[in-house]
Amino acid sequence: MADGTAKLALGDKSFDYKLMSGTVGPDVIDIRKLYADADVFTYDPGFTSTASCQSGLTYIDGDAGVLLHRGYPIGQLAEQSSFMEVAYLLLKGELPSADELKTFNNTITRHTMVHEQLSTFFRGFRRDAHPMAVMVGVVGALSAFYHDSTDINDPVQREIASHRLIAKMPTIAAMAYKYSVGQPFVYPKNDLSYTGNFLRMTYSVPAEEYEVDPVIEAAMDKIFILHADHEQNASTSTVRLAGSSGANPFACIAAGIACLWGPAHGGANEAALNMLREIGTPDRIPEYIARAKNKDDPFRLMGFGHRVYKNYDPRATVMQKTAKEVLTKLGVTDPIFDVAHELEHIALNDPYFIDKKLYPNVDFYSGIILSAIGFPTTMFTVLFALARTVGWVAQWNEMITDPAQKIGRPRQLYTGPTQRDYVPVSQR
Ligand code: CMC
Repeated sequence: MADGTAKLALGDKSFDYKLMSGTVGPDVIDIRKLYADADVFTYDPGFTSTASCQSGLTYIDGDAGVLLHRGYPIGQLAEQSSFMEVAYLLLKGELPSADELKTFNNTITRHTMVHEQLSTFFRGFRRDAHPMAVMVGVVGALSAFYHDSTDINDPVQREIASHRLIAKMPTIAAMAYKYSVGQPFVYPKNDLSYTGNFLRMTYSVPAEEYEVDPVIEAAMDKIFILHADHEQNASTSTVRLAGSSGANPFACIAAGIACLWGPAHGGANEAALNMLREIGTPDRIPEYIARAKNKDDPFRLMGFGHRVYKNYDPRATVMQKTAKEVLTKLGVTDPIFDVAHELEHIALNDPYFIDKKLYPNVDFYSGIILSAIGFPTTMFTVLFALARTVGWVAQWNEMITDPAQKIGRPRQLYTGPTQRDYVPVSQR
C-alpha cells in the first residue's frame, strides 16, 4: 500500500484501489469496482473488516475504549447532557441552543400520544407475550396508522416520521408493559420530561398520584443516552439494509427491533440478569467461570466481551457508577448484586478473560439498574430499543440523503452443488 492506493495482485494481474480517509479512524479501501475488474468478491462474514457506509454520527475506537457522538465523548454527554439533547445532536449534527432544545422538546412531547386504535391493536396479543414480540408488531404496524409520513422521498414526511418514532416509542414501550401486567394504559403528560413521562406511563395507575423520582429519572435518562447510538451494529445495519430498498421508516425500525432482540445484541442485558439469577450465590461463580472457559460448552458469560471494544466499554464505566447511585438511593439489598460484584471481580482477574480482552460491557450493569428500578427482565431490551430508536432514525435519515446510497445486496461464496438434472420422484 502506498500513496493512498492499495494494490491487489491476482495471478499475473494487478489492480489499484483508492484509499479513502475519514476524519479519524482506519482508512478504507474502495473496492466497489473489484468484481467488475477482477471477477472476485471479498469474503468477510460478520463484516469485521468491512465499512458498509460513510457516516458522520458515531465514532468508536474499540482499542482505546472511545465512543464519540458527532465528536462528543459519551462520558461527557452522559454526565452533562440529556437524552433529548443527544437525540437532537444525533439527528441534526450539532448540540442545540437553549431555544432549539425547547422547540425540539416541545415537538417530541406533542407527538407522544398514539392513535387510539392502537390500544385495540394491542389486545390482539396474548398477555404473556414477550414485550419485544409486541414491540416488533406494534412498531411495524405504525405504518398502517400514519400513512401521511411514509413517503421517504419527502423530507418533511421523513422529519415527521422521525419525530413520531422517537416520541411514540416510550408510549408504546409503556403500553407493552402495562398490557403484560394487566393494568390500564396511561396517557402521556405534557409537563413531564421525555424520561419522566415514560416512567409515569410505566408505573402510575389511575387510582393514585405518581411522582417521578428525580434520581431514577436521571439514571434512566443516562441509560437512554448510553444506548442512543453505536455505529453500524447489527440492528442499525438491519435498519439501513431494510431502508436501502425504500421501505418506510416504521417498517425499518421494526426490523431493527427484531434484530436487537437477539441475546448476542440487545437481549444481552436480559440474558446477563437471568444468568446472575441462575448463578444465585457467589460460591457458585467458579462453576460458571469454568463453563465459560470450556470450549465444549456453549455457555458464555453474558454481559462480558464486545465485538468492537477490546479494551473496555466506555459506556460500562458510566453505567457502573449509575448502578451504585441507584442501588444506594433505593437501598436495594438483592443478593444478585453481590453475585454481580463478585463475578466482575473474579472475571477481571482471570487470565482467560484478561488475555481475550473480555471486560464487562454496558449490558452487565444496565440490567442491574433496571432490575433495581423494578423493570422485569423481559422489558430490558424494550428499553434498549426505545433509546436506540434515536440512533436508528438518525442513521436511516443519513442513509436516505447519502448520494452513494444504493440497495444493500451482499454477494456470497457459493458452496452448494453445481448444476445437475432434475430426477422425477419415482426414480429417487
Ligand atoms: N464469555 C466467555 N468467552 C467469551 C465471551 C464471553 N462472554 N465472549 C467472547 N468469548 C471468547 C470466545 O469464546 C472466543 O474465544 P476463542 O478465541 O478461544 O474462540 C473469544 O472470546 C472471542 O470471541 P468472539 O465470539 O470471536 O468475539 P465476537 O467479537 O464475535 O463476539 C460478543 C462479541 C459480544 C458477541 C461476545 O463477546 C458475546 O457473546 N458476549 C456475551 C453477549 C453480550 O454480552 N453481548 C452484549 C454486547 S454489548 C451490547 C451491544 O452493543 O449490542
